[in-house]
Amino acid sequence: MHIDEHSITDAVIRSFDGCDNPRLKQIMTSLVTHLHDFVRETRLTEAEWMEGIRFLTATGQKCNDTRQEFILLSDVLGVSMLTVALNQARSPGATEATVFGPFYTDDAPRLEQGADIAGDAPGEPMEVDVVVTAPDGSPIAGAQVDVWQADEEGLYDVQRATLGTRRRGRAAMKTDAEGRLRFRGVVPTAYPVPTDGPVGRMLVATGRHPWRPAHMHFMIRAEGYETLVTHLFREGDPYLDSDAVFGVRRSLVVKIPSSPKPVLSHTFVLDRLISDSA
Ligand code: BEZ
Ligand code: FE
Repeated sequence: MHIDEHSITDAVIRSFDGCDNPRLKQIMTSLVTHLHDFVRETRLTEAEWMEGIRFLTATGQKCNDTRQEFILLSDVLGVSMLTVALNQARSPGATEATVFGPFYTDDAPRLEQGADIAGDAPGEPMEVDVVVTAPDGSPIAGAQVDVWQADEEGLYDVQRATLGTRRRGRAAMKTDAEGRLRFRGVVPTAYPVPTDGPVGRMLVATGRHPWRPAHMHFMIRAEGYETLVTHLFREGDPYLDSDAVFGVRRSLVVKIPSSPKPVLSHTFVLDRLISDSA
Protein backbone atom coordinates (compact mmCIF):
# COMPACT_ATOMS: atom_id res chain seq x y z
CA MET A 1 0.00 0.00 0.00
CA HIS A 2 1.23 3.49 -0.88
CA ILE A 3 2.05 5.65 2.15
CA ASP A 4 2.36 9.42 1.86
CA GLU A 5 2.03 12.33 4.26
CA HIS A 6 -1.76 12.19 3.94
CA SER A 7 -2.44 8.46 4.20
CA ILE A 8 0.06 7.65 6.95
CA THR A 9 -2.12 8.78 9.86
CA ASP A 10 -5.01 6.46 8.88
CA ALA A 11 -2.55 3.63 8.28
CA VAL A 12 -1.09 3.93 11.78
CA ILE A 13 -4.54 4.24 13.36
CA ARG A 14 -5.73 1.12 11.49
CA SER A 15 -2.71 -0.75 12.86
CA PHE A 16 -4.49 -0.66 16.24
CA ASP A 17 -7.60 -2.44 14.86
CA GLY A 18 -6.64 -5.65 16.65
CA CYS A 19 -6.20 -4.00 20.04
CA ASP A 20 -8.71 -5.60 22.39
CA ASN A 21 -8.35 -2.97 25.12
CA PRO A 22 -10.78 -0.21 24.05
CA ARG A 23 -9.28 2.47 26.30
CA LEU A 24 -5.73 1.75 25.12
CA LYS A 25 -6.97 1.83 21.52
CA GLN A 26 -8.66 5.21 22.11
CA ILE A 27 -5.54 6.69 23.75
CA MET A 28 -3.15 5.43 21.05
CA THR A 29 -5.44 6.60 18.24
CA SER A 30 -5.76 10.07 19.75
CA LEU A 31 -2.02 10.28 20.51
CA VAL A 32 -1.05 9.38 16.93
CA THR A 33 -3.63 11.78 15.49
CA HIS A 34 -2.31 14.70 17.57
CA LEU A 35 1.38 13.80 17.07
CA HIS A 36 0.93 13.62 13.30
CA ASP A 37 -0.99 16.91 13.26
CA PHE A 38 1.85 18.47 15.26
CA VAL A 39 4.47 17.25 12.77
CA ARG A 40 2.39 18.47 9.80
CA GLU A 41 1.48 21.81 11.38
CA THR A 42 5.07 22.68 12.35
CA ARG A 43 6.54 20.99 9.22
CA LEU A 44 9.05 19.43 11.62
CA THR A 45 12.51 19.12 10.05
CA GLU A 46 14.62 15.99 10.43
CA ALA A 47 17.14 17.97 12.51
CA GLU A 48 14.35 19.09 14.83
CA TRP A 49 13.06 15.51 15.08
CA MET A 50 16.58 14.42 16.09
CA GLU A 51 16.79 17.23 18.64
CA GLY A 52 13.49 16.04 20.11
CA ILE A 53 14.83 12.48 20.35
CA ARG A 54 17.99 13.76 22.06
CA PHE A 55 15.92 15.80 24.51
CA LEU A 56 13.68 12.87 25.46
CA THR A 57 16.70 10.58 25.78
CA ALA A 58 18.43 13.05 28.12
CA THR A 59 15.19 13.36 30.10
CA GLY A 60 15.10 9.61 30.66
CA GLN A 61 18.80 9.48 31.49
CA LYS A 62 18.32 12.15 34.18
CA CYS A 63 15.81 9.95 36.04
CA ASN A 64 16.85 7.89 39.06
CA ASP A 65 15.26 6.75 42.34
CA THR A 66 14.96 10.30 43.63
CA ARG A 67 14.72 12.35 40.43
CA GLN A 68 11.86 12.04 37.93
CA GLU A 69 12.68 14.35 35.03
CA PHE A 70 9.70 13.11 32.96
CA ILE A 71 7.26 14.20 35.69
CA LEU A 72 9.06 17.54 35.85
CA LEU A 73 8.62 17.83 32.07
CA SER A 74 4.92 17.05 32.45
CA ASP A 75 4.73 19.66 35.25
CA VAL A 76 6.33 22.52 33.32
CA LEU A 77 4.21 21.78 30.25
CA GLY A 78 1.04 21.99 32.36
CA VAL A 79 0.13 18.35 31.70
CA SER A 80 0.26 17.34 35.38
CA MET A 81 -2.00 20.19 36.47
CA LEU A 82 -4.41 19.59 33.57
CA THR A 83 -4.70 15.94 34.60
CA VAL A 84 -5.32 16.96 38.23
CA ALA A 85 -7.92 19.54 37.20
CA LEU A 86 -9.82 17.01 35.06
CA ASN A 87 -9.70 14.16 37.55
CA GLN A 88 -10.04 16.00 40.83
CA ALA A 89 -12.94 18.31 40.10
CA ARG A 90 -14.44 19.21 43.49
CA SER A 91 -17.98 20.09 44.44
CA PRO A 92 -18.57 23.79 45.15
CA GLY A 93 -17.13 24.73 48.53
CA ALA A 94 -14.68 21.83 48.72
CA THR A 95 -10.97 22.65 48.76
CA GLU A 96 -9.34 22.45 45.33
CA ALA A 97 -6.48 20.08 44.54
CA THR A 98 -3.17 20.89 42.90
CA VAL A 99 -0.01 19.08 41.78
CA PHE A 100 1.65 16.54 44.05
CA GLY A 101 5.23 17.49 43.17
CA PRO A 102 8.31 15.30 43.61
CA PHE A 103 9.23 16.02 47.23
CA TYR A 104 6.72 13.96 49.23
CA THR A 105 8.24 11.06 51.16
CA ASP A 106 6.33 8.36 53.03
CA ASP A 107 8.77 8.32 55.96
CA ALA A 108 7.94 11.71 57.50
CA PRO A 109 8.10 11.83 61.31
CA ARG A 110 4.75 11.20 63.01
CA LEU A 111 4.31 14.23 65.22
CA GLU A 112 1.78 15.44 67.77
CA GLN A 113 -0.33 18.61 67.88
CA GLY A 114 1.81 21.68 68.46
CA ALA A 115 4.98 20.10 67.04
CA ASP A 116 7.77 22.06 65.42
CA ILE A 117 8.17 20.35 62.03
CA ALA A 118 11.05 22.57 60.90
CA GLY A 119 13.63 21.38 63.40
CA ASP A 120 16.94 23.00 62.48
CA ALA A 121 15.79 24.04 58.98
CA PRO A 122 16.65 27.68 58.21
CA GLY A 123 13.68 30.03 58.14
CA GLU A 124 11.44 32.41 60.02
CA PRO A 125 9.15 30.44 62.35
CA MET A 126 5.49 30.33 61.31
CA GLU A 127 2.49 29.04 63.25
CA VAL A 128 0.11 26.90 61.23
CA ASP A 129 -3.48 26.61 62.44
CA VAL A 130 -5.81 24.66 60.14
CA VAL A 131 -9.16 22.94 60.41
CA VAL A 132 -10.45 20.01 58.36
CA THR A 133 -14.20 19.80 57.80
CA ALA A 134 -16.85 17.94 55.84
CA PRO A 135 -18.85 19.84 53.17
CA ASP A 136 -21.51 20.69 55.79
CA GLY A 137 -18.87 22.34 58.01
CA SER A 138 -18.75 19.58 60.61
CA PRO A 139 -15.20 18.91 61.85
CA ILE A 140 -13.34 15.78 60.80
CA ALA A 141 -11.53 14.42 63.85
CA GLY A 142 -8.50 12.19 63.37
CA ALA A 143 -7.89 13.18 59.74
CA GLN A 144 -4.38 12.20 58.65
CA VAL A 145 -2.54 15.37 57.56
CA ASP A 146 0.83 15.07 55.84
CA VAL A 147 2.66 18.36 55.33
CA TRP A 148 5.95 19.11 53.59
CA GLN A 149 7.72 22.33 52.80
CA ALA A 150 10.99 23.82 51.58
CA ASP A 151 13.18 25.81 53.94
CA GLU A 152 14.05 29.50 53.66
CA GLU A 153 16.73 28.69 51.08
CA GLY A 154 14.13 27.01 48.89
CA LEU A 155 15.36 23.46 49.51
CA TYR A 156 13.51 20.38 50.75
CA ASP A 157 15.32 18.07 53.16
CA VAL A 158 15.67 15.42 50.41
CA GLN A 159 17.57 17.92 48.25
CA ARG A 160 20.31 18.31 50.87
CA ALA A 161 22.80 15.47 50.59
CA THR A 162 24.29 16.43 53.95
CA LEU A 163 21.04 15.44 55.72
CA GLY A 164 21.14 11.89 54.36
CA THR A 165 17.86 10.25 55.34
CA ARG A 166 17.22 12.70 58.20
CA ARG A 167 13.85 14.37 57.72
CA ARG A 168 12.85 17.92 58.56
CA GLY A 169 10.26 20.33 57.19
CA ARG A 170 7.74 17.51 56.92
CA ALA A 171 5.46 15.59 59.25
CA ALA A 172 2.50 13.24 59.46
CA MET A 173 -0.03 14.47 62.02
CA LYS A 174 -3.70 14.07 62.95
CA THR A 175 -6.48 16.56 63.55
CA ASP A 176 -7.94 16.79 67.08
CA ALA A 177 -11.56 16.21 68.13
CA GLU A 178 -12.49 19.65 66.69
CA GLY A 179 -10.86 18.83 63.34
CA ARG A 180 -8.09 21.26 64.17
CA LEU A 181 -4.34 20.91 63.72
CA ARG A 182 -1.74 23.32 65.00
CA PHE A 183 1.99 23.08 64.38
CA ARG A 184 5.00 25.22 63.63
CA GLY A 185 6.92 25.43 60.35
CA VAL A 186 8.81 28.20 58.59
CA VAL A 187 7.45 31.01 56.42
CA PRO A 188 7.54 29.53 52.90
CA THR A 189 9.66 31.22 50.23
CA ALA A 190 9.60 30.95 46.43
CA TYR A 191 12.01 28.39 44.98
CA PRO A 192 13.03 27.14 41.54
CA VAL A 193 12.16 23.68 40.21
CA PRO A 194 15.32 21.62 39.56
CA THR A 195 17.12 23.21 36.59
CA ASP A 196 20.25 21.06 36.29
CA GLY A 197 18.74 18.80 33.62
CA PRO A 198 17.17 18.93 30.15
CA VAL A 199 13.94 20.47 31.50
CA GLY A 200 15.96 23.35 32.97
CA ARG A 201 17.71 23.82 29.61
CA MET A 202 14.32 23.86 27.88
CA LEU A 203 13.09 26.57 30.28
CA VAL A 204 16.15 28.71 29.47
CA ALA A 205 15.80 28.11 25.72
CA THR A 206 12.15 29.17 25.79
CA GLY A 207 12.74 32.28 27.91
CA ARG A 208 10.93 30.90 30.96
CA HIS A 209 11.83 31.19 34.63
CA PRO A 210 11.86 28.11 36.91
CA TRP A 211 10.23 29.64 40.00
CA ARG A 212 7.32 28.33 42.05
CA PRO A 213 5.51 30.78 44.34
CA ALA A 214 5.99 30.18 48.08
CA HIS A 215 3.76 27.37 49.33
CA MET A 216 3.26 24.58 51.84
CA HIS A 217 2.09 21.11 50.72
CA PHE A 218 -0.77 19.19 52.34
CA MET A 219 -2.14 15.71 51.80
CA ILE A 220 -5.26 15.09 53.87
CA ARG A 221 -6.86 11.66 54.25
CA ALA A 222 -9.94 10.66 56.21
CA GLU A 223 -12.18 7.63 55.98
CA GLY A 224 -15.27 8.28 53.86
CA TYR A 225 -13.71 11.32 52.12
CA GLU A 226 -11.77 11.94 48.93
CA THR A 227 -8.04 12.30 49.61
CA LEU A 228 -7.00 15.91 49.10
CA VAL A 229 -3.55 16.75 47.73
CA THR A 230 -3.03 20.46 47.63
CA HIS A 231 -0.89 23.47 48.62
CA LEU A 232 -1.48 26.76 50.36
CA PHE A 233 0.24 29.63 48.55
CA ARG A 234 1.47 32.80 50.19
CA GLU A 235 -0.49 35.88 49.17
CA GLY A 236 1.66 38.60 47.61
CA ASP A 237 4.25 36.22 46.15
CA PRO A 238 5.60 37.69 42.87
CA TYR A 239 5.33 34.31 41.09
CA LEU A 240 1.64 33.59 41.76
CA ASP A 241 0.76 34.52 38.16
CA SER A 242 3.66 32.64 36.57
CA ASP A 243 4.13 29.42 38.58
CA ALA A 244 6.59 27.26 36.59
CA VAL A 245 4.23 24.26 36.98
CA PHE A 246 0.88 26.12 36.62
CA GLY A 247 -0.35 24.86 40.00
CA VAL A 248 -1.91 28.00 41.48
CA ARG A 249 -5.66 28.20 42.15
CA ARG A 250 -7.03 31.45 43.50
CA SER A 251 -8.85 29.68 46.35
CA LEU A 252 -5.52 28.32 47.66
CA VAL A 253 -3.83 31.72 48.04
CA VAL A 254 -3.74 32.65 51.71
CA LYS A 255 -2.64 35.75 53.57
CA ILE A 256 0.12 35.13 56.10
CA PRO A 257 0.03 38.11 58.45
CA SER A 258 3.50 38.88 59.77
CA SER A 259 2.58 40.69 62.98
CA PRO A 260 2.57 40.00 65.81
CA LYS A 261 4.02 36.78 64.27
CA PRO A 262 3.51 34.87 61.02
CA VAL A 263 0.45 32.62 61.08
CA LEU A 264 -0.99 30.46 58.31
CA SER A 265 -4.65 29.66 58.92
CA HIS A 266 -7.03 27.83 56.64
CA THR A 267 -10.08 25.57 56.61
CA PHE A 268 -9.83 22.54 54.33
CA VAL A 269 -13.15 21.11 53.17
CA LEU A 270 -13.02 17.48 52.03
CA ASP A 271 -15.46 16.02 49.51
CA ARG A 272 -17.38 12.95 50.56
CA LEU A 273 -16.28 9.77 48.85
CA ILE A 274 -18.82 8.57 46.32
CA SER A 275 -18.52 4.83 46.75
CA ASP A 276 -18.54 2.65 43.62
CA SER A 277 -21.39 0.59 44.96
CA ALA A 278 -23.64 3.62 45.57
C1 BEZ B 1 6.84 21.20 44.41
O1 BEZ B 1 6.07 22.06 44.72
O2 BEZ B 1 7.39 20.63 45.34
C2 BEZ B 1 7.14 20.92 42.97
C3 BEZ B 1 6.10 20.64 42.10
C4 BEZ B 1 6.38 20.37 40.77
C5 BEZ B 1 7.68 20.38 40.30
C6 BEZ B 1 8.72 20.66 41.19
C7 BEZ B 1 8.45 20.93 42.52
FE1 FE C 1 6.86 22.43 46.74
